[in-house]
Amino acid sequence: VTRHARKVCASSMNYSAPRGRKDFREVIAAYLRTSRGVRCEASQVMVVNGSQQALDLSARVLLDPGSPVWVEEPGYEWLQHTLRLAGAKLIPVPVDGAGLNVAAGIRQRRNARAAYVTPSHQYPLGATMSAARRLQLLAWAHQNGAWIVEDDYDSEYRYESPPVASLQGLDGGARVIYIGTFSKTLFPSLRLGYLIIPEALVDRFAAVRLATDLCPAYLYQAALRDFLEEGHFARHLRKTKLIYSERRNALVRSIREEFGDRLEILGADAGMHLVVTLPKGLSDRRISSRAAAEGLWLQPLSAAYLGEARQGFILGFGGITAAEMPTHVRRLKRAISGGAV
Ligand SMILES: Cc1ncc(COP(=O)(O)O)c(C=O)c1O
Repeated sequence: VTRHARKVCASSMNYSAPRGRKDFREVIAAYLRTSRGVRCEASQVMVVNGSQQALDLSARVLLDPGSPVWVEEPGYEWLQHTLRLAGAKLIPVPVDGAGLNVAAGIRQRRNARAAYVTPSHQYPLGATMSAARRLQLLAWAHQNGAWIVEDDYDSEYRYESPPVASLQGLDGGARVIYIGTFSKTLFPSLRLGYLIIPEALVDRFAAVRLATDLCPAYLYQAALRDFLEEGHFARHLRKTKLIYSERRNALVRSIREEFGDRLEILGADAGMHLVVTLPKGLSDRRISSRAAAEGLWLQPLSAAYLGEARQGFILGFGGITAAEMPTHVRRLKRAISGGAV
């Protein structure tokens, strides 16, 4: 950042193209082709202020007020807010161990305009969408002229098995809008992510970007381009994968030590969070508001549901060291049992 701040010139202080800097888009495209199996050219990349802006832009481009849209049940709360702002009609489609239940979606609303999915690591329950379901989802989109929005928010981190290639790559990018972010691999306050847009929609996305916030900011794009191009990003991923894996192991071990098999653990093989479900009769919202009053922040699982909810917590482990983990899990245990945390 300092290097680029020092050599700032007149052109870098002006507005840029709505898709972002070309040299940055080129390194993003190269990274996604090799590491995520995404089929794309730099011309299809749009640099955005994190996935949230990508979700918002996609809703503005693809949907009209009242458009039916499949969302995962449970799913990402901030997606639900974005789609509601766009006036979309949310159709909650259940997920199971193989990801989105496409047949259930077709039964509920075959003619949905779009499906929003997290196939690499379903948010929040953690399933990886099976190959059969991926093909079924793509077939549905092609037959019905629907769009698929793939939110690939944390796929760089897989601990038990090799990374799963993107859904976009399987389709050749015809009906899939692919979204990625540097929020997990680097840090969320960067506000940098990217959209890979099917050729036929590039101009419409660019027009909507112009109409909403013109273009992305310059400095972090320039710095991050170098960070990727000079190999630091790949090294950083290798290093952080080990760190997060250690933190995840510590969290799973502590949960088992404190709770035995009384809490079910879901989705621990990838990403930076896992889910624990609560025994019957306990309310996650009641426990989390009691815990919050004592300074322990617990994200209730039920908030991720539009309909009937399972009770539990979404536990992020990225920001807590392995050594600190047992203390936090003991606080969780006290919160669940109703004592002081
Ligand atoms: C499902 C999902 N998508 C996207 C994101 C990242 O959002 P952003 O890139 O806007 O920081 C998150 C962050 O937690 C997430 O859980």
